[in-house]
Amino acid sequence: MKILAFESTCDETAVAVVEDGRHVLSDQIYSQADLHAVYGGVVPEIASRCHVEVISILAERALKEAGISRTEIDAVAVSYAPGLIGAVLVGVNFAKACAMALGVPLIPVHHIRGHMAANYIAYPELEPPFLCLAISGGNTLLADVRDYTDMRILGHTRDDAAGECFDKTARVLGLPYPGGKPIDELARGGDDKKYIFPQAHIEENPYDMSFSGLKTAVINLVHHAEQTGEEIDRSALAASFTRAVSESLVPRAMMAAEELGYDKLVIAGGVAANSVIRRDFTEAAEKHHLQLFIPPLRLCGDNAAMIGAQGYYEYLAGHTAGTDLNAYASMDINGSF
Ligand code: KG4
Repeated sequence: MKILAFESTCDETAVAVVEDGRHVLSDQIYSQADLHAVYGGVVPEIASRCHVEVISILAERALKEAGISRTEIDAVAVSYAPGLIGAVLVGVNFAKACAMALGVPLIPVHHIRGHMAANYIAYPELEPPFLCLAISGGNTLLADVRDYTDMRILGHTRDDAAGECFDKTARVLGLPYPGGKPIDELARGGDDKKYIFPQAHIEENPYDMSFSGLKTAVINLVHHAEQTGEEIDRSALAASFTRAVSESLVPRAMMAAEELGYDKLVIAGGVAANSVIRRDFTEAAEKHHLQLFIPPLRLCGDNAAMIGAQGYYEYLAGHTAGTDLNAYASMDINGSF
């Protein structure tokens, strides 16, 4: 089954063709990061306009790269939530138009479920059940994935996502947006114990997380140093900050795997590209005898291949939005996880 998949929830416009949920026939991504970098973060209106400008070009390219014609598409999948509403609408409406014109089912895919499914592409042997930690720019959550479309959130961030925290830490250090990669590079060789940052513990749910205190602590530290003329060890700061993020993620995931009896741990989302977090999870998984799955770097960030992968399993579960406008009306773009 060949699925034409769209992703436009934030600042990447992406179109892919995926066969049977596991084989990527094409994967076109246009990153708008440079357009937003001057503002230090995503400007929703600019993102929406850019999606409008490039989405049809990418769709043509995705078909060409896959070496297929439109008539060979069996279904259209689209990332419908969560995301910037103007940006989401571009992908959703383009996907609706494609599905209608081709007379094939439209499959709404939750963006975070898509991130998880990036691992189905990278690891053909991976099947649920497993424990999954999704760490992206807008979301951070720990989920009990019982089956491809049957999952339960165990815990989530109460405030900022881990990626947001990387981006704001980078901004206060004068590094470009998106800040995850520059922080990763700056942290190399830095003393990760030089600065001590707070760790949040949420009493009602030990799997819940919080990153706003950490973000504020970094910002305060930098501002205080600027006011007093104290010199900051930037590399040590980046390393200490990254350690604090990793220490709020790794032990929670290990605790959940142990309590729920899982032997497979899946990591997903843009922050999964972080070299320290990858290293820490690799070491912890070894220690706890867990099989660890982390996507290769190219599949960590937003892409449409992951939407096509999850779309296949949503289709098999009967989760489609039909083939006509009346049916599309029931599509919930605020859709829950
Ligand atoms: O998954 P993603 O593309 O966006 C959402 O779906 O929200 O993740 C983007 C986030 C950004 O916050 C970016 O700074 C972060 O992933 N990121 C990283 C790294 N590469 C990207 N964070 C830490 N270390 C990295 N190497």
